[in-house]
Amino acid sequence: MNIVHISAECYPAAKAGGLADVVGALPKYQNMLGHKASVIMPFYHNKFRSSNTFKNIFSGYARMAHATYIFNVLVPEKIELGYDLFMIDIPGLFDRENIYSYADDTERFITFQIATANWLCAWESKIDVVHCHDQHTGFIPFMLSKIWDYRKFENTPTVFTIHNGEYQGQFTFDKLHFLPPFHSFFNGLVEWRGLINPLASAIKCAWKVTTVSPGYMEEISNFMSGLEDLLKAEREKCVGILNGIDTEVWNPETDPMLDFNYGLENADEGKQAAKDKLCKQFNLDPEKPLFAFIGRLVKEKGADILPDAIYNALTKFENKLNVLILGSGEHFIEQGLLNLEGPFRGSYSSFIGYNEKLSHEIYAGADFLLMPSRVEPCGLNQLYALRYGTVPIVRRTGGLNDTVIDIGDGGFGICHVHSSTADVMQSIKRALKFYDLKQKFPKNRKLMMQIDHSWNKAASEYVELYKSMK
Ligand code: ADP
Ligand code: GLC
Repeated sequence: MNIVHISAECYPAAKAGGLADVVGALPKYQNMLGHKASVIMPFYHNKFRSSNTFKNIFSGYARMAHATYIFNVLVPEKIELGYDLFMIDIPGLFDRENIYSYADDTERFITFQIATANWLCAWESKIDVVHCHDQHTGFIPFMLSKIWDYRKFENTPTVFTIHNGEYQGQFTFDKLHFLPPFHSFFNGLVEWRGLINPLASAIKCAWKVTTVSPGYMEEISNFMSGLEDLLKAEREKCVGILNGIDTEVWNPETDPMLDFNYGLENADEGKQAAKDKLCKQFNLDPEKPLFAFIGRLVKEKGADILPDAIYNALTKFENKLNVLILGSGEHFIEQGLLNLEGPFRGSYSSFIGYNEKLSHEIYAGADFLLMPSRVEPCGLNQLYALRYGTVPIVRRTGGLNDTVIDIGDGGFGICHVHSSTADVMQSIKRALKFYDLKQKFPKNRKLMMQIDHSWNKAASEYVELYKSMK
């Protein structure tokens, strides 16, 4: 099948979170199954741009509101990703470093979608399925099925994956003219509760809608920040498919970001070597268990409870543990985490920022990974932790609930019910006891490393879904 993925992020070209990891891996695994999967994304002026060379394969223009933007389609040269990567360069809108968080994000991503659809019209090969990811590509299913310019795709199946239902991209009707012209008869297909909402539009117009875990699919049928009723109405065409991980990138045996690679045979030495390095770098004690958090410092991830939970844990458990944080996000959380450094020097440290290499080193060197998420559609961190032999401590929600079984239930991780200081403290207490079981703890490590979360299964599930639309 000829599968086209459209996304704002794709690793290694541009990453803000798990969306990039998914879009950077799923097409590769679909190609391994014998299909032809490719990715279309914006061309940001970031590190990937400055460290690669690109070939221009197409030039066109996209009209958005009263402006006309010239765009170019670039492909990276001399880099083997396992799929074709097409990057839409739109000067004036995407010649900036970051992916999101600009005042004109609505204009930027609508223009990206228009440019993408315009370019798709020029394709000679038949496209079997257009697979869009998250709200930044949410108008594509509507545009391809209802807008005259794109009528060529009227019968082309579209799939929309909700990676995160909290981000909906809605805006007011005075900006309706940002979209290409269409009959007002179709206004209802872009609208939800009085606003133009790309996520709602995608749920209405895509042939199939997926979320990134079955558990999250159940949850959002009951609550999705205002879209739950819509999802209930469209439930028939929705399915939860659990994400996989790219086991070629996330493999402690070959990971080039680690100084010391390790597999099942030398897991204990490998993890200790990684821990020693981290402890040296962050002034922590390698003799004590290392608890880590990696991720966006936002409420959704439960990061706002971390300062309080860590303060209490380090006070109550008399410095029996180390804690290391890697993340960035809301200022008050960053500040709360930085404030702990003085009082707990030697057993606590934080790196506020984004650092891919450090994240690999932490998955390898930590003993436990904290994930007190309030919302977690899938979560990849716990899957990376498992692969690197690190015990995930998770709140029972969404994909975390689908992938982590508590040690008390014959599993390998530690689960709690609430995103609260008390629950995190209780889990840390259990973790400290577990760490002291000198036979069971290393045995569990090896067990976790063998759990198969590779993309093989999910890549086939998506293909089956595509076939069901033929
Ligand atoms: P989300 O996409 O909601 O942020 P996921 O668990 O799906 O959550 O994926 C997060 C991804 O981003 C993982 O690859 C994780 O390692 C990475 N990540 C998050 N924050 C950072 C950071 N500060 N530095 C490096 N990698 C990070
Ligand atoms: C989103 C979700 C996260 C998921 C990721 C990849 O960012 O918040 O839980 O793992 O997408 O699907």
